[in-house]
Amino acid sequence: SAAEKGGYDYFMLKEIAEQPKAVADTLLGRIDAAGSLTLDELRISAAELREVDKVVIVACGTAFHAGLIAKYAIEHWTRIPCEVELASEFRYRDPILDPRTLVIAISQSGETMDTLMALRHAREQGSKVLAICNTNGSTIPRESDAVLYTHAGPEVAVASTKAFLTQLVACYLVALYLGQVRGTKWGDEIQAVIRDLSKISCEVERVLETMEPVRDLARSLAAKNTVLFLGRHVGYPVALEGALKLKELAYMHAEGFAAGELKHGPIALIEQDLPVVVVAPSPRGRSVLHDKIVSNIQEIRARGARTIVIAEEGDEAVAPYADHLIRIPATPTLLQPLVATVPLQVFACELATARGNEVDQPRNLAKSVTVE
Ligand code: AGP
Repeated sequence: SAAEKGGYDYFMLKEIAEQPKAVADTLLGRIDAAGSLTLDELRISAAELREVDKVVIVACGTAFHAGLIAKYAIEHWTRIPCEVELASEFRYRDPILDPRTLVIAISQSGETMDTLMALRHAREQGSKVLAICNTNGSTIPRESDAVLYTHAGPEVAVASTKAFLTQLVACYLVALYLGQVRGTKWGDEIQAVIRDLSKISCEVERVLETMEPVRDLARSLAAKNTVLFLGRHVGYPVALEGALKLKELAYMHAEGFAAGELKHGPIALIEQDLPVVVVAPSPRGRSVLHDKIVSNIQEIRARGARTIVIAEEGDEAVAPYADHLIRIPATPTLLQPLVATVPLQVFACELATARGNEVDQPRNLAKSVTVE
């Protein structure tokens, strides 16, 4: 009913709008006054966490994209090797697992059969499984050794939005906590990132306040057949997520690529007026990455692409090559997905509406996939 949707036309719009609160709720009580993380709920002792020599993340769909981003954070802040695998592929290839492997299963619903089967397989091999889940008491956390709940609140729309942002927050918390417990050379950076994370919900709010041009742009593209998404580093999984949202909601052909792969094939797809969304990394700090994305944007534009660039405020280097510029607040690179994904959600939702599609219940899809 309209009341359940809180005045919005669709649950998806309501859930997009709820993201600042969902992010804040997921952080709540997990950062103490001194700026350290307290994750007692992990029920895996600090001693055990110090023994972990490999992290394996299993998930499906949007939760898999959260896992891909988590890998960058975990390896950077903890120096523990991390693999991310589609849950549906995992147990069929005889993966190498032992008691020192920490397996993280990410699932909004906690009922995804592929993810459940992957975690059962991991536990049979003696690995500890930590669930990151949004649904209290669901099967995946019940069958795991520990659970870190995301506090997004119920997500009704089939296309995942606020669950994704809170999965990212939970992944960052786990990565930072592992770093904190194991004591890495990134101690100061970890402290700084914890401070940035505690302010991030306001940044998500700021993004939401500037979405009108994104909606206009989406409507202008309603008759297109294809949209490509490019990114580097954590921008690459963000590109994959942008493409998945567009497939699900707009039923358009949408692909996400690592921008560095362009010349290894995908650049052949570029033709006159093809919309290409590019997620630009921050120009601060890792400027090598930023230089590379600027040349990627130039390359595709020279071949006729209509470039839609998501870039940090103050990033002027991309501006001359952007047909459409979507501004996001400056954040540390690893946290950028929390703000960069939001315009892509709005973009897909508006395109679905413009094309007359059912936003909350896309064709052929179920909210949770309880069959393999
Ligand atoms: C996201 O928009 C999708 N509908 C889908 O990919 C989803 O993320 C996937 O099925 C995993 O679901 P889960 O998080 O409930 O396990």
